[in-house]
Amino acid sequence: MKVCVIGGAGYIGSHAVYELIRDKHEVVVIDNLSTGDKKFVHKDAKFYLGDITKENELDKIFKEECRIKPFDVVMHFAAKLIVPESMEMPLEYYHNNVEGVRLMLKTMVNYNIKNIIFSSTAAVYGNASEEPCTEESLTNPESPYGDSKLACEKLIKWVCKRYDMNYCIFRYFNVAGADESLEIGLLKDNLTHLIPIAVQTALGLREKMVVFGEDYDTRDGSCIRDYIHVSDLAKAHVLGAKYIFENNKSILCNLGSNKGYTVKEVIKEVEKFMPVNYEIGPRRPGDPAVVLASNQKAKEILGWNPIYNLEDMIRTDLEFRKKHSK
Ligand SMILES: NC(=O)c1ccc[n+]([C@@H]2O[C@H](COP(=O)([O-])OP(=O)(O)OC[C@H]3O[C@@H](n4cnc5c(N)ncnc54)[C@H](O)[C@@H]3O)[C@@H](O)[C@H]2O)c1
Repeated sequence: MKVCVIGGAGYIGSHAVYELIRDKHEVVVIDNLSTGDKKFVHKDAKFYLGDITKENELDKIFKEECRIKPFDVVMHFAAKLIVPESMEMPLEYYHNNVEGVRLMLKTMVNYNIKNIIFSSTAAVYGNASEEPCTEESLTNPESPYGDSKLACEKLIKWVCKRYDMNYCIFRYFNVAGADESLEIGLLKDNLTHLIPIAVQTALGLREKMVVFGEDYDTRDGSCIRDYIHVSDLAKAHVLGAKYIFENNKSILCNLGSNKGYTVKEVIKEVEKFMPVNYEIGPRRPGDPAVVLASNQKAKEILGWNPIYNLEDMIRTDLEFRKKHSK
């Protein structure tokens, strides 16, 4: 397949590009490098610097590429995704995330490209969801970020219905780890995810970390979350692309591990490698006690089989960080 990966210089997009190239697909990356880094784009992928909120830039790239050979699939990773920042900057979030998707869909329609893979998030479920979350659980996003993603899902569904296109929407849970090659991983200044923060603390790259609340109704009082390795997630994208391309069908599914770990269990797992300096702080407003994914649908329909466990996520993040933080 010829695949266009929008946001392919970012954390998850760069891993999807690696898996697509390992599976022998032709890859074109479009990224504005707002949070991504060109050094994480695979050397065998073609790179365009472009912003999908600018219709003329997108059109120019599609014109050039589709003249040679049209894309079979477009994968969209290009979003702003920090929940607290989205509370402060709702206009910027809806513009980048929703307007970006609208213009991408418009361009796909103009060039008759039929298949779209979209990165959505567990944040569309909000806090009032069942455990484990299934794809039928109530959606009730509690931030402009989560709401912008749900708006994109709806937009994609309506446009696909109107123009006879196929979508594969993935709702990710907590993504962690790095590619075994250690060439790509999560390298950002303002990290918000537990595993890389615990690893940074273990490596002495931050003085200490805070566990937000130990009085939840869980086995040790700290929150329970579902973690999935970024390479397992990336492989699901290759399967999803093949599924919609070959079957002319759409699908929406969760990508998680269906296993829950408390914050303290994650820290203990990091401490098998190195000690972590942490303290207990108050609960953060809006943090649910438990977030867990049902991943049956992706397993049954796509034949997805995640292979990495929590220790692998920590080990690969740690090794990647040691290599790239020098
Ligand atoms: N990281 C997670 O744990 C997580 C969880 C759930 C969902 N997601 C979703 O996965 C996707 C990828 O997340 P990530 O962690 O890789 O983030 P990231 O910030 O590392 O990657 C996003 C990439 O998109 C690019 N980009 C952003 N806006 C763009 C625009 N207008 N035009 C062109 N490029 C643009 C950025 O430069 C970056 O390379 C996002 O859509 C996010 O909502 C991520």
